[in-house]
Amino acid sequence: MSFVITTPLYYVNDKPHLGSIYTTIICDTIARYKRLLGEKVIFITGVDEHGLKIQRTANEKGIEPKIHCDEVSEIFNKVWKDWDITFDKFIRTTSKDHEIIVRDFYQRVKTSDDIYMGVQKGWYCVGCEEFKDNPENSSNYKCPIHQKNLEWKNEENLFFRLSKYQSEIENLLKEPSFIEPKERKNEIINFVSRGLKDFSISRTNVSWGIPVPGIDNHTFYVWFDALLGYISALNQSKTDPSLEKTIKFDWPADIHFIGKDILRFHAVYWPAMLISAGMKVPEKVFGHGFLTREGQKMGKSLGNVLDPNLLISKYGRDPVRWFLIKDISLGSDGDFQNKRFVDIINNDLANTIGNLLNRTSSMSRKWFDNKVPSREQILKENEISNLTQITVNNYINNFNSYKLDLAASDILNLAINTNLYLNDNQPWVLIKEKENIPLVKEIIYNVLESTRIIGLLLFPILPDLSSQINIQLGSSYKSKVSWEEQLKWGLLNHNSSLPKPSPIINKLEYE
Ligand code: MSP
Repeated sequence: MSFVITTPLYYVNDKPHLGSIYTTIICDTIARYKRLLGEKVIFITGVDEHGLKIQRTANEKGIEPKIHCDEVSEIFNKVWKDWDITFDKFIRTTSKDHEIIVRDFYQRVKTSDDIYMGVQKGWYCVGCEEFKDNPENSSNYKCPIHQKNLEWKNEENLFFRLSKYQSEIENLLKEPSFIEPKERKNEIINFVSRGLKDFSISRTNVSWGIPVPGIDNHTFYVWFDALLGYISALNQSKTDPSLEKTIKFDWPADIHFIGKDILRFHAVYWPAMLISAGMKVPEKVFGHGFLTREGQKMGKSLGNVLDPNLLISKYGRDPVRWFLIKDISLGSDGDFQNKRFVDIINNDLANTIGNLLNRTSSMSRKWFDNKVPSREQILKENEISNLTQITVNNYINNFNSYKLDLAASDILNLAINTNLYLNDNQPWVLIKEKENIPLVKEIIYNVLESTRIIGLLLFPILPDLSSQINIQLGSSYKSKVSWEEQLKWGLLNHNSSLPKPSPIINKLEYE
């Protein structure tokens, strides 16, 4: 069985922004980590291309929706490559295979007698592609996410009998690990306790969608189409795709990572749809928080969206990854502030990790013939080796429970403590006496070895920096030897050459 992890399928009404990068980087980090543990990973991302929102965006641009979708999907694909995102599948909901899977799925739900024709009346947010529960003063009410007025709809739609699955969903929510984090789980429990209502799964006024078989003028509601993308991404048959074949091996997904705004779709509607179709539900849905910029919501109209291309060219990939992972606790909201960003990168990466490597490697080269020192065993207790083993255990526990910020802090704390060890032992003073040379060799080795382990632990979070650390230690990551084996103490070769050090991370300036 593979470990299946998914990002949301992003709407192609707009290019990727910091919010979409955030989820994708989290999934990339977890996918890299799982691969290091030797698991077979299927990392799915992609784009959600149908529906009224996309149809309107294309109309506004005066181009065919298909052309618009091709353009923006290509941008997403390219941006993820620029960010070195290691996705295995990129699904487009306009692909033919996906259409077949949606139809097969619909057929199953229909066979369960869960589809009926009804009339849908209500206030709709096109940005969310969702009916809202008729808020007070609906005609002037602005959706808090999109800051746009709701639209009144009154049309004949097909409905899905969500209400039939009240008790199944209640039972699912009792499973402790299904929704994370806990705060989000309570929101969903409250929503479900008010009683589930059937929801409409087709539209008559939206031509840009998958036609419902056998019913003229109806296309599938964009969510009844997009959620299936998680499954069609797993299709392996080029010639004859089917739902039956696709779910044989790798379904269900192990984890869907999504933003808190779309948790209801993933933790209530989606499992009910899957149960109706006789399929397994995902193991876990994780609703992360929202990012703001300098305390303000990001938006095109506010002109404060952080452009991914600009972020790469200004700062590079790893600083942004470090900030998003280490500074924001997964699940909570986060704020991108330039000053804080610059401080964190300079303190954590440049001054603490970078400097540790740089100064130790310089000392070792200067005193020991451009090499890692030879083996000495003078010290009775090796506090640094003990600390690395504790760090490795904590890091693995934190990663396994998706506490990525804590895993990143584990690495940073190891670097801070290794710096302290160096400062306390003052090898630059000891080296002045000849009889201290063996002791200095041991201290320097301990620090270099700790740095090697720091580099390995950084691998899933900061792939670029991690490989630079290894190169500078003259020890490259050996993909044939298991990562966990390589985390064991003492594997940096004594007497091996140390390349000339150069800064592994550049200090950033305030804007
Ligand atoms: N197309 C649907 C998802 C379908 S999944 C089968 C969708 N797309 S979206 O492009 O609008 O949003 C994609 C994700 O980006 C959501 O998880 C949303 O929460 C996230 N974010 C959008 N803005 C965000 C921030 N400012 N911060 C963090 N994430 C946010 O919804």
